[in-house]
Amino acid sequence: MIKCQEYIAQNKDKFLEELLDLLKIPSISADPAYAHHLVKTADVIIERLLEAGADKARKYETPGHPIVYGEKMIDPSLPTVLVYGHYDVQPPDPLDLWDSPPFEPVIKKTKIHPEGAIFARGSCDDKGQMYMHVKSFEAMNATGSLPCNVKFLIEGEEEVGSDNLGDFMAEHTDLLSCDVVLVSDTSIITNDQPSITVGLRGLSYVEVEVTGPNKDLHSGVYGGAVGNPVNILCEMVAKLKDENNRITIPGFYDDVEVLSSSERLELNKAPFSLSEYKSELKVDDVHGEEGYTTLERTSIRPTLDVNGMWGGYTGEGAKTVLPSQAFAKISMRLVPNQDEHKITELFTDYFTSIAPDSVKVKVTPHHGGKPAVTPTNTPEYKAAALAMKDTFGKEAIPVRGGGSIPIVALFEDILNVKTVLMGFGLDSDDIHSPNEHYGLFNYYKGIETIPLFYQHYANLKK
Ligand code: BES
Ligand code: MN
Ligand code: MN
Repeated sequence: MIKCQEYIAQNKDKFLEELLDLLKIPSISADPAYAHHLVKTADVIIERLLEAGADKARKYETPGHPIVYGEKMIDPSLPTVLVYGHYDVQPPDPLDLWDSPPFEPVIKKTKIHPEGAIFARGSCDDKGQMYMHVKSFEAMNATGSLPCNVKFLIEGEEEVGSDNLGDFMAEHTDLLSCDVVLVSDTSIITNDQPSITVGLRGLSYVEVEVTGPNKDLHSGVYGGAVGNPVNILCEMVAKLKDENNRITIPGFYDDVEVLSSSERLELNKAPFSLSEYKSELKVDDVHGEEGYTTLERTSIRPTLDVNGMWGGYTGEGAKTVLPSQAFAKISMRLVPNQDEHKITELFTDYFTSIAPDSVKVKVTPHHGGKPAVTPTNTPEYKAAALAMKDTFGKEAIPVRGGGSIPIVALFEDILNVKTVLMGFGLDSDDIHSPNEHYGLFNYYKGIETIPLFYQHYANLKK
């Protein structure tokens, strides 16, 4: 292990250069025009896996973007770790809000990252975090200290709902058979307070279309007499929450897991400063469901948010028009034991029922995902906690994450294995936002911690 850590220390510059190269490829999964860049990214990862010591690495085509699979099987009697990550990234828009181009990575110091952070789309989510695993794997191989079999499953469609990964897993259960799934695609609390994510929220994502008159009308000639779809959509959205910010969809909370007061007390012990939170976001107050703290609102409680809304005239100047249509994209984050299909149905029924007769409503479901909880009484959780204790010198705190990684629930359902979510990002790294970045401290800390995970895991499984 000492040798492995030495190898990492000696190769820091090379590890960084390689990541920067990967970040230059715009692997935006949502935009079909970028498909060839996803293929290119997959090819580069395959090459790097082979260089790092994988016996095999190849692409599997899907109806969408390719899946990368690689492995090194050293001994069938040893435990097998399946590393999951994603090489696709979110669209970088709005481009004008970036201080440097999203696919031209630069390193800059920030208040939170005084040693420097890499600014680029995907630096934290998830190329940087995924690539830590490739480099830890290289370091273990180069120093003869790999104590487990390793499989890599790196997909290109996480940011668009992992639509093809479930089928791939079901068709390749033998190929993917393993003892545990290891994922770095979540956050720690701060750089001096490690944490391990023990839950993720699920998701129901819908698009709504409200149609009034069959064409745009003169807002003077018809205004006041014909339903305006944009006004009506606003009223309908407003009806989705009550004065306490509780979601009004009948049945929405029926299956929500209720935490005991001691569980809630424990959850709220995690270090958190409301005043810093507000000042970082430049808001005078927070906003959310009455009766719950900010930490609870972003972890154990479901949400409903408009992600985007449009309709009518949005160009320069003023155009007097009564629009024919209005649209919105709405996401609902779900908690255990809510079912995304049931929630989508409840939303659709309610949203349709509150529409006045002056408009027609269409609801189209997009991707969704199941919530996940990962246990703490397992060898993999203990191994992650021991590894983080070794490298951070501090006990990791278990926390529930607010984001979603829909495939995690399927690892349990299809492969019958648990996942450990050992991420190294920070919530303030601006993932999905302009100026996404990943701390050099976090990148190297991850590379140093992962080999220790393998070692503790192999010991605990003996
Ligand atoms: N890595 C994130 C999820 C995440 C971020 C979990 C931070 C916990 C903390 C992932 O790439 C992501 O963005 N997932 C999407 C899922 C969706 C596209 C189905 C999300 O949460 O919006
Ligand atoms: Mn991610
Ligand atoms: Mn993401």
